[in-house]
Order: sequence, then C-alpha cells, then structure tokens
Amino acid sequence: MEKNFSEDFASLLDLFKAYRKTERCLASFNVNDNYDLQAVVEAANEMDTHVMVMTYPPVADLITPQVFTKMVEGVRLNAKNKVYLHLDHSVSVDQCKAAIDSGYDSVMIDGSQQALEENIKMTKQVVAYAKSANVVVEAEIGKILGRGVEVKSDDDFLASVSDVKQLYEEAQPDIVAVGIGTAHGFTPQEPKIHFGRLGEIAEAIPAPLVLHGGTGIPDLDIQKSITMGMSKINIGTIVHTTYMQEAMKRMNEAGMNAYPPFIMKEVLPLIKDVVVDRLKAVNFQNELVV
Ligand code: 13P
Repeated sequence: MEKNFSEDFASLLDLFKAYRKTERCLASFNVNDNYDLQAVVEAANEMDTHVMVMTYPPVADLITPQVFTKMVEGVRLNAKNKVYLHLDHSVSVDQCKAAIDSGYDSVMIDGSQQALEENIKMTKQVVAYAKSANVVVEAEIGKILGRGVEVKSDDDFLASVSDVKQLYEEAQPDIVAVGIGTAHGFTPQEPKIHFGRLGEIAEAIPAPLVLHGGTGIPDLDIQKSITMGMSKINIGTIVHTTYMQEAMKRMNEAGMNAYPPFIMKEVLPLIKDVVVDRLKAVNFQNELVV
C-alpha cells in the first residue's frame, strides 16, 4: 500500500504511534528564523507532507518561545499540511515548561549527559507538565556523537537496552531518542549505525524512536532505520550550512549594498532544495533492496 505522509491524525502523538507501526517517519528540521522556516514549509508543500520544525535552545532563547510559536502560526496559513513545532535538545526543565506554555507541540528534555537517575527525574518533571497540555515529550538515552560530545568507547555512547527500558517505564516519555552511532554535523567518516542495538531497543519498548544527526546519514541507512522503528528524524546541519554559506557568498559579492530581502530571495529556494532532497529520502515508498 502507498504510504501517505499527509494523513490526518487527532494528535501528534497519534501520528507518531501510527508512524511507528506503519514504518513512516516525520522529517524534522532545525530552523533558525523566518527564512529557513519558510523554506521548510515550501518544501513540505511541494512534497505534500506533514513536517516538523525544531528550535535549538539558543534559537528559543534569542527569539523566545512565544515569538517563535507565532511565527509558526503565521507560516501555517500557507501550509498544505501540518507544521509541528518542537524544542530540540533542551537541558532545562524550565525551558521545556516555557515552550509548553507558549504552544509548542513537542519538547525534548535531554538528560543524556546526566546519570540515568537524574535523566529519569528530569524527564518525569517534563512529562508531568506536558500531560495536561497534550504536548509530546522526547527523552534521550545514549549519546549523539559530534559537537564536543566525548566518548571513550562504544559503551559510552550506545544506548543500553536496560537503560532505555528503565527510562521508558519510569518516566513514560512519548518518544525516545537513542544513541546508536549517529553524529551531529558533518563527520569525517560516514556514521556507523549500530542496527543490532536499534533492533534490540525497538523490541524492548513500543515507543516511536528518534534518529538524531540526520545530516550525512546515507539514504539507505535512513530508510532501514525507519523500517526498524525510527519515527522521527532530526536534520539540522545541512539546512543551516546551506543558509549561511549561500548568504555569505552573496553578502560578500554585494558588499555595502547587501540588503536582506534581495539576498534571501536567492538563498531561500536553495534551502528549500536541500529540504526537498531530504524529504525524498525520508518519505520513501519503495521496499528496500538490501
Ligand atoms: P544534524 O545537524 O547532523 O543534521 O543533526 C540534527 C539533530 O540531530 C538535531 O537534534
């Protein structure tokens, strides 16, 4: 049967549960301002798909959750399908609460750098707060490599199945990010995904799983992960590097005459192109040939 990426659900949580069962995945893009936000929405329109946009904590701090929520409400007026807003990698329970109060659809409380007990405690606090607002909560177990995350051995970053189970059962997050070898940002080598561990985790808990470090994962690995339980994929670096590099090139050329709408009129379609390209990889129809 054709997979439908614009099917309506009563809630985002219902969408994630259905996606896990039907091997679909919600593509989620880190955005920084109104321009890349608009580019993601235009790409999703072209592909006729729901999409999620995510603010990293510095973006939420700078623009504020209140204003970003309004920006997303604004672009929804031009969206064919759902545009969900998520707070990504917050290490602060208070920041998650502020995002929930502002109308975010989903928040991530990232306690992965803490001991398991502390991670569970933080996750529980956010889950309790999010419940009445019907906001989805993402937790993390194991570590996503790159950006200064130090690991000494596989055991250091690979999510342990028993830890995942304990966090899921005690804190009851809706969706769970698991460290299985992917890295944030461009990496010198292709990331080596530990599919064996992913299989064990998917067997151990029914929650929709989240694949971080989406930039640079080969398409076939993305698709295989989706068939194994990954129901949300986070993609960031390819979006902001395209934005910054293309804008910088044009600003250098224009010099003192650089004017934001003229620069961004040219850059926005280029950001849109990379988002369309990633949506094509994530929203795949065909059976994998392995
Ligand atoms: P990339 O920057 O590697 O695409 O990863 C994004 C991410 O996982 C955000 O949570």
